[in-house]
Amino acid sequence: MGKLPSLLVFAALTSLVLSSPVIETREPLVHLPLSRRLKTGGLKLIEHDQARARALIAGRKSKLGKRASENVTVENQAVSYVATVAVGSPATDFSLIVDTGSSNTWVGAGERFKETSTTQCSGQLVEVEYGSGFFIGEECTDTVSLGPDLVIKSQSIGAALLSEGFEGVDGIIGLGPVDLTEGTVQSFPGGSSVVPTVTNNLVSQGTIAIEVVGVSFEPTTSDSALNGVLTFGGVDSSKFIGDLTFVNVTTISPASEFWGIDQQVSIGSSTILSTTAGIVDTGTTLVLLATDAYDQYVSATGATLDQTTGLLTVPSDSSLVNLDFLIGGKNFSLTPNAQIWPRALNTDIGGTADAIYLIVGDLGTDSGEGLDFINGMTFLERFYSVFDTTNNRVGFASTPFTNATTN
Ligand SMILES: *[C@@H]1O[C@H](CO)[C@@H](O)[C@H](O)[C@H]1NC(C)=O
Ligand SMILES: *[C@@H]1O[C@H](CO)[C@@H](O)[C@H](O)[C@H]1NC(C)=O
Ligand SMILES: *[C@@H]1O[C@H](CO)[C@@H](O)[C@H](O)[C@H]1NC(C)=O
Ligand SMILES: *[C@@H]1O[C@H](CO)[C@@H](O)[C@H](O)[C@H]1NC(C)=O
Repeated sequence: MGKLPSLLVFAALTSLVLSSPVIETREPLVHLPLSRRLKTGGLKLIEHDQARARALIAGRKSKLGKRASENVTVENQAVSYVATVAVGSPATDFSLIVDTGSSNTWVGAGERFKETSTTQCSGQLVEVEYGSGFFIGEECTDTVSLGPDLVIKSQSIGAALLSEGFEGVDGIIGLGPVDLTEGTVQSFPGGSSVVPTVTNNLVSQGTIAIEVVGVSFEPTTSDSALNGVLTFGGVDSSKFIGDLTFVNVTTISPASEFWGIDQQVSIGSSTILSTTAGIVDTGTTLVLLATDAYDQYVSATGATLDQTTGLLTVPSDSSLVNLDFLIGGKNFSLTPNAQIWPRALNTDIGGTADAIYLIVGDLGTDSGEGLDFINGMTFLERFYSVFDTTNNRVGFASTPFTNATTN
């Protein structure tokens, strides 16, 4: 494609972006208390993320076959952002991983679930496989509170009987598309095959007007930072700079089953991943690229694989240049500093305090699989993101941290 047509396409995309429905930020927004959680042990980060990627690509089926928008604060726990969610009456507080890559909400991995006056259990089994872990439990409904003004009645939740891979947290708040819950609950004949999600219910119960979640993560410099906020029903415009750029959820499967988007990735002047589908996922720590693109990233940076952490390492950040993610006609660039794992957390992942580890990892499969990248939390710490179910699209914007030197 020559220069003129691509400019026209760019202009067309820009006008689509501008004519998209406006999402308003509304008051008051609510903050939740946070609890400190250390990172989960066991797997190396890259092993965790690759195992998760394999499960996402293979299919997520389990073995069983109007009012205010609200902020919910979340905490980076070296590998996951965790929100405090209250369940039942009297309520028990649970620390739940904020996961846009899955859609069941469940509790009881650490803190056990207790039945209260608002609990109703169906006796049905629920099971979800995450690749990096799994849970099996009983499906119940209960009052779930994400904050004083974000109370959901009769929310379906899993009460874990058995789980693995969730050390240090109590479960998951699932913010993915509702179809991902299909087949997770053993259903009675004629029963519903999907389980309404937290955001489905916030809309159907009239608590929020549009099914939108805004996610603000900030780069972390300690393992217990209170550095995130989720906004339900709108976006928190105090958390980003300039306009949001929206792109439709991709039509390419399996990325289309998640918060999937089309994107191109370039380093310097060379494209290392031509426009292809992948996903945006708060439940993945790193930025994973299909092996062929990852190999080009390794060549371009001269990085080597550190056996201890499983991450790429470079002797000096002077070999790094911007890594550009072209999304919806706009480049979202990870600066050299944004490609570095937070040095304050090096020892938390088994690394050496002053080494430079990189947040780009190998997805484990070549491109062309319909899920060729995962923009994980280290990407989302540099850009505000919006998960818009109502309009089936994902949005991004720059933040004060986009170009910041924090690592
Ligand atoms: C929540 O939203 C309000 C209104 O936009 C904003 O002033 C506040 O800073 C947000 N919360 C946090 C933790 O940033
Ligand atoms: C995005 O989806 C909307 C609604 O389906 C559609 O009208 C629009 O043309 C799509 N935009 C692009 C760029 O494909
Ligand atoms: C995005 O970045 C790439 C690589 O630097 C560049 O070739 C391309 O022109 C940029 N596109 C836009 C729309 O800025
Ligand atoms: C980040 O830096 C780039 C290049 O210098 C600049 O174009 C962009 O506006 C900056 N973004 C923010 C949010 O400061």
